[in-house]
Amino acid sequence: MGGAGDGHLRDEIAAAGAAALAALEGAGGTDAIRSALAVQRRSLAALKSRLGGIADVEQRKECGRLLGEAVARLERDADARLAAASESERAAAVAAEAMDLTEHLQPALFGTTHIVTQALDRLVDVFVGLGFVVAEGPEIETDFHNFEALNMPASHPARSEFDTLFLEPVNDLQRRSPVLLRTHTSPVQIRVMQSVAPPIYAVMPGRVFRRDTPDATHMPVFHQIEGLVVDRGITFADLAGTIEAFTKAFFGEDFTSRLRPSYFPFTEPSAEFDVRGRDGAWIELGGCGMVHPDVLRAGGVDPEEFTGFAFGFGIDRMAKERHAVADIREMYTNDLRFLRQFR
Ligand code: PHE
Repeated sequence: MGGAGDGHLRDEIAAAGAAALAALEGAGGTDAIRSALAVQRRSLAALKSRLGGIADVEQRKECGRLLGEAVARLERDADARLAAASESERAAAVAAEAMDLTEHLQPALFGTTHIVTQALDRLVDVFVGLGFVVAEGPEIETDFHNFEALNMPASHPARSEFDTLFLEPVNDLQRRSPVLLRTHTSPVQIRVMQSVAPPIYAVMPGRVFRRDTPDATHMPVFHQIEGLVVDRGITFADLAGTIEAFTKAFFGEDFTSRLRPSYFPFTEPSAEFDVRGRDGAWIELGGCGMVHPDVLRAGGVDPEEFTGFAFGFGIDRMAKERHAVADIREMYTNDLRFLRQFR
C-alpha cells in the first residue's frame, strides 16, 4: 500500500487530465487550442516530476501509467480538435476570399449607325472609288457663300426657294452680311475652290437646313452630298458620264440615269438627274450642271482656263426609299424599336 501522498497524486492526475480536456474544449480556434495545449502539457508535466516521491514501486508505476494515459488523451484530443478547427478556418478563409465571377452580359446595348449615316458612308465610298476626295464646310454659313457667290445676289428670286433660317446678327459685319444655316451643300463648292487650285474632284457631304414644316417627305434638317469637278476641258459629257458611272456603282449595274433640263442660278446649263432600275419608275435624285463662270470666278478660278460641273442631291430620301420607310419623320424620332431594325 502506498502513502496518503500517492493516493492524493492519483486524484490530482485524474483531475488534471479532466481539466486539460475541458480547457481544450473551451478553446475556439487553432491558436487558442495550441496555447491551451501548451498550458495543459506543462501542468501534466509538473505532476510527472512528483512521481519520484512515491515510495511504492507498483504505485509509482500505476501513477506513471495514469499520467501517460492522461497526456496521450490530451494529445489525441488536441490533434482532433486542431484538425477540425483548421478545416473550418480554411473553409471560412475560402469563403471570405471568394470572388463573384458571374458575368452580366447586357445584350443589345451596342450602338449602330443611323440609316442616313449608312447611306452617306456608302455614297462617300463609291465616290472615293471613282477618284473623288471628301471635303466639308461649316453648317453656319455667310450669305456670301450660301447665295451671293453662287450667283444669287440679294434680290435674286431663286433665294425664296430656299426657306432660309437666319441667325440673329451679333455685330455690324453680320448686320451688313447675314449669317445663316446653310440651305444646301453648294457653298462648300466656293470654299473648296477658294482653298485649292484645280484640278478639283471633290464630294462634300453634310447637314443642311430649311424653314420647312416637317411632313412625311420633308424635314427642316436633312443631308445632301455635293460633287464638284473643275479641270481643263471638262464638258457636259463628263458630267453625264460621271452621273451614269455613279448610278451603276451605287445602285447596281442594271440601273441607269437620265438628265432633264432644269435651272439653277449657279450652273449653266442645268439639269435634274433621275435614276431607275431595269423595269422600275424614274426616281428624281438631284440637280446638276456646268459650273457658271461667275461661280468659278467667285471661287478664284479663271473660267477662261478651267471648266467644271457640279451636282447635289438629298441623302435622307435615298435612305427612306431604300428601306421603304413610310414617313421620313420616323427616321428622326430616335425610337429604338425603329432604329434597331437597321443594324
Ligand atoms: N444645291 C442644289 C439644291 O440644293 C442642288 C445642286 C447642286 C444643283 C449642284 C446644281 C449643282 O437643290
